Amino acid sequence: MKKILLAFLCATLFLTGCSVAVNVNLPKKDNPYLVLVNKQHKLPGDWLDRITLVTSHDPWGGEVLIEETTLKQFEKLQAALLDRGIDIYLDSVYRSVDNQVALWNYFEQEYGEDYCKQYVAVPGYSEHHTGLAVDICITVDGEYNNDNDVMLAQTDLFNEIHTLMPQFGFILRYPKGKEDISGYSYEPWHFRYVGPKVAQEITEKGLTLEEYLNQK
Ligand code: DAL
Ligand code: ZN
Repeated sequence: MKKILLAFLCATLFLTGCSVAVNVNLPKKDNPYLVLVNKQHKLPGDWLDRITLVTSHDPWGGEVLIEETTLKQFEKLQAALLDRGIDIYLDSVYRSVDNQVALWNYFEQEYGEDYCKQYVAVPGYSEHHTGLAVDICITVDGEYNNDNDVMLAQTDLFNEIHTLMPQFGFILRYPKGKEDISGYSYEPWHFRYVGPKVAQEITEKGLTLEEYLNQK
């Protein structure tokens, strides 16, 4: 069912003409890869002026938008995992506020408000608005799968993926045991690009992005 939703979101992006690159004018002092978007911190209003979104694809042929360095680094992670026999792919990446409204409505209708609060951000407060957050899909029984329950059961597979990703700049954004800080239930599929140095430090110290930024 999630695939149908994604196809709808991609079609919306295409029809609204949002699949064109958005250009950067990044003040040098700002590091966009450390932006904090969570239940308390809304996406900065000028965000799309600070980054460049580029187009890629999910494994079902749908278009996705993603921040350009995040894509380059994701492709390196993907290749390194493939060398180890693990096939991952982009699933849901950049989402506009309208996309998030559609997602929230879908999950609320299908799973109820409590589930939504655990797994879906209120529109305007989703990391997916940044283009730096990546939901992956994995291969199960030879097919790409993005079902939350199926992925939650793939513990060993995700352990291998999570071990490799910091060197490519990705952190696990909603880890187990940190739900009260991150605000969300464990999502093994949701990665966030912060750059290799920061990702390795955050992972080695077992921090959330909130804790890392607080200690700076
Ligand atoms: N699943 C994450 C929390 C989001 O909707 O942004
Ligand atoms: Zn996500």
